[in-house]
Amino acid sequence: MSTVYYVGTSLDGFIATPDHSLDWLTSRHIEEDGPQGYPAFEAGVGAIVMGAATYEWVHAAVTEAGEGWMYDVPAWVLTHRELAPIAGDIRFASADSDDEVRALHAEAVAAAGGKNVWIVGGGELVGRFADVGLVDELVLAYAPCVLGAGAPLLPRALDLELLEVDRNGDFVVVRYAVAR
Ligand SMILES: NC(=O)c1ccc[n+]([C@@H]2O[C@H](COP(=O)([O-])OP(=O)(O)OC[C@H]3O[C@@H](n4cnc5c(N)ncnc54)[C@H](OP(=O)(O)O)[C@@H]3O)[C@@H](O)[C@H]2O)c1
Repeated sequence: MSTVYYVGTSLDGFIATPDHSLDWLTSRHIEEDGPQGYPAFEAGVGAIVMGAATYEWVHAAVTEAGEGWMYDVPAWVLTHRELAPIAGDIRFASADSDDEVRALHAEAVAAAGGKNVWIVGGGELVGRFADVGLVDELVLAYAPCVLGAGAPLLPRALDLELLEVDRNGDFVVVRYAVAR
């Protein structure tokens, strides 16, 4: 079981534009069943964790599409606010201290039942988990673009070990282990 940050990123390390657009990402081609594609990754995930802005993006997207929450596994949404709910196993929580981050991670690991925990983003949230040594792997799908500014991929200094590199459609997908 691992805790994994699986994310699409620009070449210059942004995961959304300053106004939270993902058009630069969703407009690119990726083979779902290609190397390191999403369905195979998702099959190994037993719990997910995301921040408030990420949740709000998902909420807006599924609402606009007339769809529901897309995850079957327990999801923790970190926030200090009361966010608009969606039907699903969504647990709103906050984790401000290192001990709260550890406790939340332990809950997610227990709920994942031996599968992986996916930290969806954003980058600062992933950084909080990395600060206490709780991120094992990064899977970065590099889109062929430079954004210049936006939501940061992971605003931390971390040593990584390269595990796997694939081309998938327009993307270069790279899997790294966080060096201990
Ligand atoms: N490219 C991709 O694959 C990808 C993946 C994920 C996300 N995204 C996008 O990237 C952007 C990420 O936005 P973001 O950088 O602002 O990150 P975010 O983590 O989605 O949202 C940040 C907010 O989450 C809440 N939060 C984060 N950590 C918390 C903690 N430990 N305890 C309590 N609340 C916490 C805070 O909100 P409050 O205190 O205001 O409640 C914080 O301002 C979004 O646009 C998202 O859609 C892209």
